Amino acid sequence: MTGSDRFGRLFPILEAVPAEHRLPGLVEQSTWLCDGALKDWDGPVQRVLSPVCVPSPGGPKQAVIGSYPLMGAEQALAALAAACAAWDHGRGPWPTMSVSRRLEHVEDFAARMALRRDEVVRLIMWEIGKSLPDARKEFDRTVAYIHDTVAAMKELDRVSSRFEVREGVIGQIRRSPLGVALCMGPFNYPLNETFTTLIPALVMGNPVIFKPPKLGVLLHSPLLAAFRDAFPPGVVNTVYGDGATIVSPLMASGRIDVLAFIGTSRVADILRKQHPKPHRLRCVLGLEAKNAAIVLPDADLDEAVSECVAGALSFNGQRCTALKLIFVHRSLVAEFNRRLVAAVDALRPGLPWDPGAQVTPLPEAGKPQYLSELVADARARGAQVLNPEGGAVHGTYFHPAVLYPADAGMRIFHEEQFGPVVPVTPYDDVEEPVRAIMESPYGQQASLFGRDPAAVGRLIDLLVNQVCRVNVNAQCQRGPDTFPFTGRKDSAEGTLSVSDALRVFSIRTLAATRATGDNKELVSRIVREGHSSFLNTDWLF
Ligand code: G3H
Repeated sequence: MTGSDRFGRLFPILEAVPAEHRLPGLVEQSTWLCDGALKDWDGPVQRVLSPVCVPSPGGPKQAVIGSYPLMGAEQALAALAAACAAWDHGRGPWPTMSVSRRLEHVEDFAARMALRRDEVVRLIMWEIGKSLPDARKEFDRTVAYIHDTVAAMKELDRVSSRFEVREGVIGQIRRSPLGVALCMGPFNYPLNETFTTLIPALVMGNPVIFKPPKLGVLLHSPLLAAFRDAFPPGVVNTVYGDGATIVSPLMASGRIDVLAFIGTSRVADILRKQHPKPHRLRCVLGLEAKNAAIVLPDADLDEAVSECVAGALSFNGQRCTALKLIFVHRSLVAEFNRRLVAAVDALRPGLPWDPGAQVTPLPEAGKPQYLSELVADARARGAQVLNPEGGAVHGTYFHPAVLYPADAGMRIFHEEQFGPVVPVTPYDDVEEPVRAIMESPYGQQASLFGRDPAAVGRLIDLLVNQVCRVNVNAQCQRGPDTFPFTGRKDSAEGTLSVSDALRVFSIRTLAATRATGDNKELVSRIVREGHSSFLNTDWLF
């Protein structure tokens, strides 16, 4: 299917972009942060193409918006050396700094970051095609996450500022940093998901190397000076380029202590195996998902349809939490589909800054072609595209396609589309979708739509042992960020939430002694005279 006239007019000439959303020129990111300095880069670069196209005689062509360094192993190892020096076997200034001082650095960074909101938001739109309201939401949510992490760290410190006495042993138990953390976020939340690991890693006292996602590098460039100025040398370092070239030597060095990675399980497994002593490596991984919705016979259809549309198509379905398969009871599937198609038809295609744009161009190379293949495979096996313009392609734009009936013989039933294709599968017995979820290699979340307490209650009990969040009459989602975010099977390792992330990037350590008179006196003097920052009872307000 090719684009209709409607989509043919989607991409403007650059001069037609409203002035406040235009980039000031090419964004050539020619520095990288290492050991407290922004180092100049004059080596090879990666050209950055926007999902936003410009008209050309041969059809829409992706706009070139800048470039970033394609670093080599030498630079990656320099960043590692800087991070290792900041760690210094746990004796460096950052891991040994008092929590209150560390938090001052983090709050200083948050204040500097807040000043760059407009630039970062503009680059999010141009680099990954996220709509203006969603790009702003991503930025604001990230700043809020930093403040919430600071508050959670204070709370954690308060509960650790006491002694426990058990069986004649006095102990003080705290959480200590692990070492050098390598943080890698995904392209769909390039700022937020990178920072939801990077910030707690820093707060706990771990120096960090961070590699922005391949699509979503430039949007970090306005923040590099803030990182340099807010943190001591070596505490935050950046690397850019091809993963195999720069990440492999980092992992093979054996000096990465924590790997925070959001991406595919295939890459996560490769990275873990590159570590010479994988048992030393703490991993926190956000991986694939194929979240399903089950619409029960008594569901409120208006609610189910509007949640399924938001769940399947927010940011064009490019969310790990997106609804990627919708099971609907056969008794109401015809009406569900009618309303679903009407709701999808009403979505507004547009460029990220267009007021009210709900579907935008896709940033990944070859993505419209991949989605077209999924649609063609489903059609060849008996599914129809229910919405008239579904699957239309124009340059990087792919118009959402509702596929019905989707079944287990089709690729769309198993593959994570991560894009605007909405497969609907009818069922007669609820055991059918439950079995599909059980047999899926993924286990992140599920959504249930229904009103009968007995049926919904029974399904909640069945599904909580398959996935890690069951959403009732609501789409799947990560937020609120204080809730645990994780998955089973191939979907995740470790749990992230504001407070859980602090645990992920730390380990419990304690100082303990027998409660003899001499030892009590010793401990009292250490505390009273302020000889230790670990063994103390100071309160952080
Ligand atoms: O891509 C996965 C994101 O963590 C999902 O977050 O549910 O808030 O969109 P969200």
